[in-house]
Amino acid sequence: MKALVLSGGSGTRLRPLTHTTAKQLVPVANKPILYYVLEGIADAGVTDVGIVVGETAEEIRAAVGDGSRFRISVTYIPQHQPLGLAHAVRVARDWLGDDDFVMYLGDNFLLGGISEQLEDFRTRRPAAQIMLTPVRDPSAFGVVTLDDEGLVTGLEEKPEFPKSDLALVGVYFFTPAVHDAVAAVRPSARGELEITDALQWLLDQGLDVASSTVHGYWKDTGNATDMLEVNRSVLDSLIPACDGTVDEESDVIGRVVVEEGAVVTRSRIVGPAVIGRGTRVEGSYIGPFTSVGEDCLVADSEIEYSIVLAGTAIEGVRRIAASVIGRHVQVTPAPRTPQAHRLILGDHSKVQIRS
Ligand code: DAU
Repeated sequence: MKALVLSGGSGTRLRPLTHTTAKQLVPVANKPILYYVLEGIADAGVTDVGIVVGETAEEIRAAVGDGSRFRISVTYIPQHQPLGLAHAVRVARDWLGDDDFVMYLGDNFLLGGISEQLEDFRTRRPAAQIMLTPVRDPSAFGVVTLDDEGLVTGLEEKPEFPKSDLALVGVYFFTPAVHDAVAAVRPSARGELEITDALQWLLDQGLDVASSTVHGYWKDTGNATDMLEVNRSVLDSLIPACDGTVDEESDVIGRVVVEEGAVVTRSRIVGPAVIGRGTRVEGSYIGPFTSVGEDCLVADSEIEYSIVLAGTAIEGVRRIAASVIGRHVQVTPAPRTPQAHRLILGDHSKVQIRS
């Protein structure tokens, strides 16, 4: 059994964060999404992992290395253009050989891992096995229809008029039968070789496509609300730890992680929250469901239910809530005169100002 992780693509939907970061490396609770993917694969006992990489290959390699820290062995498989998920399987053909494999989209966040589904696949060994989840906006996904007995009857990629609310989750289990399928599909209306069409091709050949339904799945939609929600659910199961320094004038309440080298002075932190490595929190309030990345400064400020990425400084601002703030950002009060908001924002930024 091998694992094929897809980490190519360009990531337009998570802008502005993905102007500077591969979308698979956007952090949740201070850890890149891709790390959760690799941990899930390792926990399921799969150690031979191919990572398909595109234009952000260098960044992915720097973050994952040879995989030893995840107890896996990683082979990088370049895909020169993001021509679709079925194309990625074609590109990995030689590396995959005739092994069964799990294909995991590197930007998919799945609570609960994949061990159970993998065990199911091993036992029943259908041609392919997919995971489904009910969603509110099925037309943004691959959509699956089931018959009364729960058997897959049809699949469509991002249909305008979805026939069900069951979306394909980005984790697929395949036997080598998929190679004929990906060889047979033609580019879709959006110009990609769709894995959804390859699955439909398997069905059309009379082969078995099994499915299971999951909950607690999250997918990037370019929507800060979704990112904050997944951050909340991960922080909810945080195990408190203090590897940094908290002075006597500070209160740390509930499940809080203070990472190595972080320094908290004259502050109140109400968990669940995580304060990244080397970050300084001074005279501030950090409220529930907040992840502050490494090497940040939060001084004389209040922030809650937010994600702050590495190297950012927030000084003299109260109160920030429900916000996602990128790397090396500076947030400070405007001068008293003139009475104006002063904004220097990168492309595709979103700002909501209370006035
Ligand atoms: O997240 C689940 C959805 O993923 C499914 O419901 C859809 O059926 C499936 O087509 C896919 O839809 P997306 O349009 O959201 O896929 P996206 O372009 O975001 O690519 C998913 C991951 O695969 C992402 O980490 C980038 C990577 N990728 C994508 C393409 C198109 C590659 O490595 N190579 C590619 O050619």
